[in-house]
Amino acid sequence: MGSIVPVPITPQRFAGKIVFLTGGTGGLGAATCELFLAEGASVFVVDLHAHDIASKLSKTLHFQKCDVSDPVACEEAVRACVAHFGRLDVLINCAGRVGPVTDVPGMPVEEFQKLIGLNLGSVFYLSRVAIPQMIKQGGGAVVSIASTSGLAGDYGLCAYNAAKAGVINLSRAMACDHAKDGVRVNVVCPGYMITPMSAAFETQPDMYADLLDGIPQGRGCDPKEVGRAVLWLASDEASFTTGTTLVVDGGWGARSGAPKFTKYM
Ligand SMILES: NC(=O)c1ccc[n+]([C@@H]2O[C@H](COP(=O)([O-])OP(=O)(O)OC[C@H]3O[C@@H](n4cnc5c(N)ncnc54)[C@H](O)[C@@H]3O)[C@@H](O)[C@H]2O)c1
Repeated sequence: MGSIVPVPITPQRFAGKIVFLTGGTGGLGAATCELFLAEGASVFVVDLHAHDIASKLSKTLHFQKCDVSDPVACEEAVRACVAHFGRLDVLINCAGRVGPVTDVPGMPVEEFQKLIGLNLGSVFYLSRVAIPQMIKQGGGAVVSIASTSGLAGDYGLCAYNAAKAGVINLSRAMACDHAKDGVRVNVVCPGYMITPMSAAFETQPDMYADLLDGIPQGRGCDPKEVGRAVLWLASDEASFTTGTTLVVDGGWGARSGAPKFTKYM
């Protein structure tokens, strides 16, 4: 029998790497930030709200307030990251918001534009500044958080559906354009994560039961379960993976939409 190669407890896949992370004080952002820090990265967090990050700041964790729906603020934040840490290896686009539950006639134009600017525009605004920096350094990785809501339509989430679908195809286009530059671009589509964004679900018992019933694993996930997929795509382990969409949803998208036969027959 050959010798057993020990698996390191903390792989340190990001030692020396600089990660620019949006929405980094929210549920998924904070969980992903913790995973990156544990694996040796330095993280430049931008978010509209500081939440509880002030107590965690360190030599490897920097926070800057930034509205990522503003293209000028996005450009300034990327430059601030490079000025602070000297480089930028990984861009994680995690900031997002669902918006009001309404159909197209009920959606105010200004709200639609805001939701597209935040959920989709931010990915474009940041990538257009971060990618040239990565190319200058010899390569890098972009991972954007879309949603299962980017893969199909929902009732009452028209702007969110449009924006998240846009994130997926924008990422495919960037993956094609920058593959030979050494920049990989991928997307993670979470299903139901237990975060502040989805906290209201539990307050509506009928809707919540319906939601869980539709997930083959029968539960929402800890955001770290999605964060681990983000880290894999951002790491060199995913060296031949670009332009892909990784769905992390407890089996939600595996369903055809037919009734749950085993429940009724
Ligand atoms: N929670 C879920 O079930 C779920 C499912 C699928 C996809 N997602 C996506 O995952 C990502 C993270 O969501 P979450 O569940 O952690 O939500 P969250 O509300 O906990 O975190 C979102 C973060 O984005 C920040 N943000 C909002 N607008 C911003 C702006 N204009 N500029 C900068 N930052 C801004 C918020 O301050 C917050 O910290 C989002 O893109 C969301 O659409 C969430």
